[in-house]
Amino acid sequence: MTEPLRLGVAGLGTVGAGVVRIVRTQAELLSARTGRRIEITAVSARDRSKDRGVSLSGYAWEDDPVALARRDDVDIFVELVGGSEGAAKDAIEAAIDSGKDVVTANKALLALHGQALAERAEAAGRAIRYEAAVAGGIPVIKALTEGLAANEITRVMGVMNGTCNYILTRMEQSGLPYEEVFKEADALGYLEADPTLDVGGIDAGHKLAILAAIAFGTQPDFGGIALEGIDRVSIDDIRAAADMGFRIKLLGVAQRTGRGLEQRMQPCLVPAGSPLGQLEGGTNMVVIEGDAVEQVVLRGPGAGMGPTASAVMGDVCDLARGIRLPVFGQPAGSLQPAPRAQSDLPAPYYLRMKLVDKPGALARVAATLGDAGISIDRMRQYGHSEAEAPVLIVTHKATRAAIDTALETLGDTDVVTSAPVALRIESL
Ligand code: NAP
Ligand code: HSE
Repeated sequence: MTEPLRLGVAGLGTVGAGVVRIVRTQAELLSARTGRRIEITAVSARDRSKDRGVSLSGYAWEDDPVALARRDDVDIFVELVGGSEGAAKDAIEAAIDSGKDVVTANKALLALHGQALAERAEAAGRAIRYEAAVAGGIPVIKALTEGLAANEITRVMGVMNGTCNYILTRMEQSGLPYEEVFKEADALGYLEADPTLDVGGIDAGHKLAILAAIAFGTQPDFGGIALEGIDRVSIDDIRAAADMGFRIKLLGVAQRTGRGLEQRMQPCLVPAGSPLGQLEGGTNMVVIEGDAVEQVVLRGPGAGMGPTASAVMGDVCDLARGIRLPVFGQPAGSLQPAPRAQSDLPAPYYLRMKLVDKPGALARVAATLGDAGISIDRMRQYGHSEAEAPVLIVTHKATRAAIDTALETLGDTDVVTSAPVALRIESL
């Protein structure tokens, strides 16, 4: 058997501890499958005295991840610290510069600095692997870069933030408002240290930017994503959507249109019976469409110790086997700047608004939509209070621009009592 493959693991939190556990408990399986013994030589975290639920005996300790990255007894630097700046970035750069391959779960870093890091790694002949960065335990990076490499990808879409999916499904099941379920998710430890990363759609946006880069041969372009979180999704919308046969999901879509690359991450309605509609709790789903394969649907756990460590160790196994690919599936120098396009593909929309309950109010809404070229597919009005009439409308396909024009016009009238809600309806 060849020399052991030596890992330096920076970050011993949820994912790092999971990696240590797999290396310790699955040593034989890993060596049988890769032909090399895989061992950890050194680790790094902030607090040396913390009990992490796994033994760290036999591992050297470094307070500084950069020092760990530079150690001579480390072949692969495993970065599980997190954050797009600071220690994680400095240490990955140090690892590349000192001739190490890198495995990371850090989607924020790759979405924001992936191009520069890929250029740096490829110039140095090193690999950066990051299966765990997108959709946790689902091997979606491998699917896109390897299994589907012969396809012209037309669309990538999916639910890629387990916390948001948990909040939305829990709201529907319990009937509780967003604020209550947010507190529950916090108590369960589901939220990132900065919760806006989850509920603001940023974490899922980072993941979409990475997938889009691989799928379309473009440089990761997080700034080009039209981003909207779930914090404005109300229990009223969840109930109304369910009543009309839909569920609300934080859905990411990246697709090439005639105008360029459209990337959006926003709450959307999906048919309740569709694969996306049936997605419960923290589970993720990624749908990939290619010219030859047509459609592939991948579903699985999007976070957590076991699933994420599984993905990290899958990358380690590939490197142990000598599998080395360009970071985003093709040489970094050949990735094109993403040609940004606004979402202009028409789709049906769900509209919810409250009208003053007086003659002609509904007619005014219908006329305003008609003037903007928007045709109504279905409409419901129920639950009148004394002065207000809540109205739900599902439109035929319309552009976002037309919807915005109509809502702006309605806002200038005296028939709408509060800002209307407009959510795109996606089908799968
Ligand atoms: P975590 O539980 O917060 O652990 C972070 C670890 O990094 C801790 O051990 C912490 O040390 C260490 N650390 C932080 N700053 C450091 C510094 N300056 N120097 C040295 N060590 C430092 O995070 P996690 O959930 O494991 O996530 C790690 C990475 O995986 C992130 O990029 C995250 O986005 C990604 N990820 C996580 C999941 C998940 O389900 N958790 C899923 C997919 C991807 P102390 O323990 O001593 O404080
Ligand atoms: N906060 C992320 C989620 C963790 O909820 O999906 C996994 O990336």
